Amino acid sequence: MSLVEIPQPHPAPLVGNLPAMDQREPVQGLMRLAGELGPIFRLDLPGGKRMVVLSSQALVHEVCDQERFEKMLHQPLRQVREFAGDGLFTAETREHNWQIAHRILMPAFGPVALREMFGGMADIAEQLLLKWERLGPEHVIDVADNTTRLTLDTIALCAFSYRFNSFYREEMHPFVRAMVRALVESGSRSRRLPLQNRLMLLSRHQFEEDKNVLHSLADRLVAERRRQPSPPGRRDILDTMIEAADPQTGERLSDENVRYQLVTFLIAGHETTSGLLTFTLYELLRHPEVLARARAQVDEVLGGRRPVFEDLARLGYLDQILRETLRLWPTAPAFAVTPLDDETTLGGRYPVRRDDILLVLTPMLHRDPAVWEDPERFDPGRFAFEKAQALPPDAWKPFGNGVRMCIGRGFALQEAQLFLAMLLQRFDLEPADPGYRLVIHETLTMKPEGFTMRLRRRPVAL
Ligand code: HEM
Repeated sequence: MSLVEIPQPHPAPLVGNLPAMDQREPVQGLMRLAGELGPIFRLDLPGGKRMVVLSSQALVHEVCDQERFEKMLHQPLRQVREFAGDGLFTAETREHNWQIAHRILMPAFGPVALREMFGGMADIAEQLLLKWERLGPEHVIDVADNTTRLTLDTIALCAFSYRFNSFYREEMHPFVRAMVRALVESGSRSRRLPLQNRLMLLSRHQFEEDKNVLHSLADRLVAERRRQPSPPGRRDILDTMIEAADPQTGERLSDENVRYQLVTFLIAGHETTSGLLTFTLYELLRHPEVLARARAQVDEVLGGRRPVFEDLARLGYLDQILRETLRLWPTAPAFAVTPLDDETTLGGRYPVRRDDILLVLTPMLHRDPAVWEDPERFDPGRFAFEKAQALPPDAWKPFGNGVRMCIGRGFALQEAQLFLAMLLQRFDLEPADPGYRLVIHETLTMKPEGFTMRLRRRPVAL
């Protein structure tokens, strides 16, 4: 097959395709471009960088080959690195600190650890449900606000034995405000010209302040733990970060690296999962038949008693709902790789080179009509065991790829499944605004904005 040019919107002098990128809704902008230009298109960025956006299973399957491609820290992640340093998310795969931390921290999110974290997840979920019960059936719940508090408190308690107590404060915790601003600014910086960034003194000042808020909380948690180590039998991920030795080299994580891991886990560990829960509730309220089936399963498995870890395996339909939600709304909506070899061809005909940003646009990958019948339809049945097994490889990638795949995927799915089970067991759900039309708020992640619901207590004795 002969080589052909990758489709591209018409570039402008100096700024290339920058004007084609939506500054406020970058991912939704790329989705629109993919709709116009197809499963592969190229954007030229200032400074000679080229971004190639991919949205078909065939092309994505090709770039998921770790023999030919590796994770790339594209501009937004380079900006996040300003505050997350060489934590797992923003380190290069070849960096020594990524390799040590990967080996030390992987088991901390394995099946044994997840079982131990079940109690912490149930504790925080119970707090929120109790609060909702007391607020009563007329209370209008801002779903994204509440799930953000839930997931932040859950990761902090389960991983670091720290209580943010977010349900007891009016305003979001200062950590969350600093984090959201820093994430938005990281994305914006990556779409501005370098000169623009240098001139925006106020934004730069705010970014520095936000970075300090994130670091000082992390440093405080580490200092407190060093002063008062966990009792035996109550060890958590922070203990692992501070004390565990790399099984291969015997090295421990440096103090600076522990700080970056803490910030990384607090951010990566809640922002995406709250988006997942919010989109899930949005979809459930639009699909009463799915909601009814989910509730029937919860009633059958749990009846009127509190859930235990073993119940999760029997709540398979809830897991299917979460996976289908992540198909339509992958809350970390893109990841980037680059070729290891300078002379690489994609799909047998598109030339790409080392340092090209190959961006996997998961919301469009997950709508590839060659894989998904009627892709816009919300149908958890797609993830019934046999059907999911029959999916082509790399058709569903909400958690990224290969060795750089999300370390917290099991944690996120367990937390979300448990919360959903407890919620459906206890409440009837209804939309507070039946005319709500989906608005997606983008930081580097996606979340529904302005989505609200009301809850009525069901007659279950708990
Ligand atoms: C990596 C998505 C929950 C911690 C990733 C990546 C994606 C992702 C797409 C790969 C990024 C890339 O290749 O650049 C999600 C989604 C979640 C979720 C959709 C929830 C629904 C979590 C949780 C934690 C976590 C709960 C922590 C407990 C991380 C870390 C990495 C990562 C540390 C970097 C791993 C490495 O490269 O070694 N996540 N994530 N995530 N995630 Fe998650």
